[in-house]
Amino acid sequence: MSPLATFIVFTSFVIYATIRAFMGKNYYAEPYLSPFYSPCLGKCAEGGSDFGQPFDWWPLSAALIILIFPLGFRMSCYYYRKAYYRAFWLSPPACAVAEPHGSYSGETRLPLILQNVHRYFWYAAVVVGLILTWDVVLAFGPAPGESGGVHMGLGTVLMAVNVALIWLYTLSCHSCRHIVGGRLRHFSKHPVRYKMWTWVSKLNGNHPRYAWYSLFSVALVDLYITLLAANVFDDPRFF
Ligand code: FES
Repeated sequence: MSPLATFIVFTSFVIYATIRAFMGKNYYAEPYLSPFYSPCLGKCAEGGSDFGQPFDWWPLSAALIILIFPLGFRMSCYYYRKAYYRAFWLSPPACAVAEPHGSYSGETRLPLILQNVHRYFWYAAVVVGLILTWDVVLAFGPAPGESGGVHMGLGTVLMAVNVALIWLYTLSCHSCRHIVGGRLRHFSKHPVRYKMWTWVSKLNGNHPRYAWYSLFSVALVDLYITLLAANVFDDPRFF
């Protein structure tokens, strides 16, 4: 993606996500919970909290309690770093183009040296991925107004696609590749890790694609659930 396109898409996402995170409402439309608010640990809409409400004293939007983890994971992603350094700071604008700034210290000083926390955010992203997967299971639950049974609506499908893209993004991460296959002297002595490393390496080649697809899908699912919760339309139901 060109730096200008990256700038426009990334800025739009940040504005949208910020508005939604502070909004604090219309994030639960039974049985769908917006990924921006999952897990809902603050004072949550009825039915939208599956892990209790340990932060029910929190006065602001429940999204602000947990967004640091998916957001920190994305903001420190190696691919996004390259994309937004180029798009926002032109540092440098592309390969083989001169650095426009007087000096260049890379990521060796504060604050950019903090980007190294990415590998730790990866562990948090795995936990978030598991919770979002559980949300998809719940999205097959009873439709609004029904007390039992399973159902599948368009929201269920959108949430399932979103979580698949989030897993592709998470498992194709460079840190994941290092975690499963790094610091080994001999792959031949670790056949299982070698196998996993080859799978992750294949996914890793498409990491930029998964980064953008999952960014769009997470915003789209949130928007869909917001509109459902605001009664703008009804969720089409397949069974
Ligand atoms: Fe992109 Fe880790 S490098 S998520």
